[in-house]
Amino acid sequence: MNAEGAPGIVPAPYTLAEYAELARAALSPETWDFIEGGAGQERTLAANGAAFDGVRLRPRVLTGAGRPDLAVRILGRDWAAPFAVAPVAHHTLVHETGEAATARATGRAGVPLVVSTFAGRTFEEIAEASSALLWLQVYCFRDRAVTRSLVERAERAGFEALVLTVDAPRLGRRLRDLRNGFRLPPGVGAANLPGENVSSPADHALAAFDDSLDWSVVDWLRSVSSLPVLIKGVLTADDARRALAAGVDGIVVSNHGGRQLDGAPATLEVLPEIAAAVDHACPVLVDGGVRRGRDVLAALALGADAALLGRPVLHGLAVHGESGVGRVLEIVAEELAEAMTLTGTASVAQAGPHLVGAADRPA
Ligand code: FNR
Repeated sequence: MNAEGAPGIVPAPYTLAEYAELARAALSPETWDFIEGGAGQERTLAANGAAFDGVRLRPRVLTGAGRPDLAVRILGRDWAAPFAVAPVAHHTLVHETGEAATARATGRAGVPLVVSTFAGRTFEEIAEASSALLWLQVYCFRDRAVTRSLVERAERAGFEALVLTVDAPRLGRRLRDLRNGFRLPPGVGAANLPGENVSSPADHALAAFDDSLDWSVVDWLRSVSSLPVLIKGVLTADDARRALAAGVDGIVVSNHGGRQLDGAPATLEVLPEIAAAVDHACPVLVDGGVRRGRDVLAALALGADAALLGRPVLHGLAVHGESGVGRVLEIVAEELAEAMTLTGTASVAQAGPHLVGAADRPA
């Protein structure tokens, strides 16, 4: 590997896949399994990646497009590129700097960071660390007072939106963690939930998560905060319509990176039907298996306004801390620019189903 790089030569790694391999070597097998694993037989986890692998993009020539413009405007804010960092718990598990480093890197890249309820750093520390656009991912606990206080603190710290995760009334059975008897190491926890024992994420979720939530939770969240509310974990057009009726400000098409219902569809498979149901009434984001810039373009082509990256950000953080996250985001942006140029896509607004092969187009 060319770690330092000669002058004028871009140092390795060159791809997110290389970062994943370096992270695997750097982390303990149990930690690697916790991050990489999915629920059950990991069919949905595999389907996410396979769906992106299967998409064919149609090259166009002599389009005069020039250097593409990656910028997007979502919920009234400009993003440098149509992707953001997905909420992922416990960044401090892979690097002591945790979410503070991730926030600095996303701030420099000009893309948002969705901070997990289970962040390893406090909201205040994360907000102080950078100028990044921050959103809070919300799990609704049985004890609503706990959730309410998280939301209020994040709002005070300058967070700009809430992302309510609705696909995890209980955690999926993650067999790798069961077999490893996975526990978070001492010192790694949920900095914004002081006093809660989260060392076994599965046990904590079983005790603390409200497993009987219904659509009224959206109204409740609105009643405790004035921030826009996005809903994360929608996989059907019916639920997308319900979400719109409930007044959400955005929808994240997600299967939790294959960590919840094993056998659920790949997100890219259901994205077109959800985008059609939403019909631009609110932004539609998607995550699960995005590993290259061209995957972001495929998501845009099939109806997303932006994509989120989960595990690859942890890989970058594990290997090179803040600069690793920065490099991961830079690689995706560079690959996206390449794919846009070679498909004659001058701006994000120009992405559409014409970019993908006939077999991948929505009916
Ligand atoms: C997650 N994800 C997640 N989602 C969420 O809403 N709150 C959370 O705290 C977490 N924590 C978490 C931890 C780890 C280790 C992983 C891998 C994932 C799910 C995450 O937001 C996202 O949906 C997926 O990670 C996206 O898939 P990829 O990009 O990892 O394939």
